[in-house]
Amino acid sequence: MLLITVFLSFAALVSSGHSPHSAYIEELVRNNAFGVRISDNVMEDACLDLADLVRKYNYPFEEHSVTTEDGYILGLHRIPHGRDSHNVAGDKPVVFLMHGLMTSSSDHVIMGPGNGLAYILAEEGYDVWMGNARGNYFSRNHRTLNPDDQRSGFWHFSWDEIGNRDLPAMIDYALQHTGKSALHYIGFSQGTTSFFVMASLRPEYNQKIISMHALAPVAYMEYSRNPLFNFLAPYAYDLEALARLIGLGEVFPNSEIFTIIGKNFCNDEAITQPICSSIVFFIAGFNENQHNATMLPVILGHTPAGAAIRQFAHYGQSITNKDFRRYDHGLLENMLIYGSIIPPRYDLSQITAPVFLHYSDSDPLADTADVDRLYRGLGRPMGKFRVPQATFSHVDFLWGIDAKTLVYDRVIRYMQIMEILN
Ligand SMILES: *[C@@H]1O[C@H](CO)[C@@H](O)[C@H](O)[C@H]1NC(C)=O
Repeated sequence: MLLITVFLSFAALVSSGHSPHSAYIEELVRNNAFGVRISDNVMEDACLDLADLVRKYNYPFEEHSVTTEDGYILGLHRIPHGRDSHNVAGDKPVVFLMHGLMTSSSDHVIMGPGNGLAYILAEEGYDVWMGNARGNYFSRNHRTLNPDDQRSGFWHFSWDEIGNRDLPAMIDYALQHTGKSALHYIGFSQGTTSFFVMASLRPEYNQKIISMHALAPVAYMEYSRNPLFNFLAPYAYDLEALARLIGLGEVFPNSEIFTIIGKNFCNDEAITQPICSSIVFFIAGFNENQHNATMLPVILGHTPAGAAIRQFAHYGQSITNKDFRRYDHGLLENMLIYGSIIPPRYDLSQITAPVFLHYSDSDPLADTADVDRLYRGLGRPMGKFRVPQATFSHVDFLWGIDAKTLVYDRVIRYMQIMEILN
């Protein structure tokens, strides 16, 4: 109960934005013209908004807006070319990156040039697009529904809608804008779940995928060992009923509070820094040797970015029902929506895009047994790659010190092979 209280009181924090500082940024850009590969000022990077953070390191950054068929207005981000190599705009293969639960497109840039996947791909010659799921900091917008009114219906979605509606809209936009017919997809955690949802519910999208790389793949959660999720799983229905009762659909919105906590309590001089590390480990898996604690203020400056409580509830249901099924609304509503009392399974055999799974032994959210079961069900599995480090854990796929050498280099190699075959 204590956890739920903590969980819900976090959720009650009010969201607020960052502000741009253009003249100052121009000055920084001149200083970072070439070669800067690590964060040169952690406190500053914690406070800059995402566009300024990318531009500060002298990379191009574009913001696009996409409206889904059910009215959600999503922020789509793009780094069209590199800085040190492949640094002119032009015809390049397109890659689409999709973030995890509670986070945003910032996932792939906050660790800085040389470490962030988006920068690495841009340097390799890719036109990098980054999605933002409905409800997060960049996609907290709708044609008619008000996200600040918790009862407006805005927050009535899980990762089912993110896969079924958001991904198709964003992928179509990126393809149309670049004049391409197919792209590479790299998802992390929920960014893999939502892909499997899209590719099974809307199989026509498989043809638009040159290769799909699932980092820390999450579909089945029978063997999930995450203490927070496992604690919440039995409340997968009650939790939501409770949330609805108190008029709450949104959890962990992007908030200045996290930036302030990060700057003051998680920096290298703070004696409380190990507590910050412990919280990250608790939520996302323990691994001391891939964790750069110095970067905690930057992580907390951009994470969490907000989610709907139903996204958590849907994962909770996956743990409880030991299956990969559509969202369980309860008997009556299921009957109306799906025509059956039990929500249907996502049919993995429909996923005919070439899928590569990248997983690790110590990932508490993507257990190797669950990953095996997923792999066996896929329509066109291309390979299953275990990270060659036993302690490598969930968030290490994004923020691990050696993510490039242990994971990204292999992903890029297979993308290049798939382009030749395509
Ligand atoms: C951790 O991050 C800081 C700031 O970006 C950087 O100076 C340092 O080299 C990083 N440590 C490792 C082991 O990568």
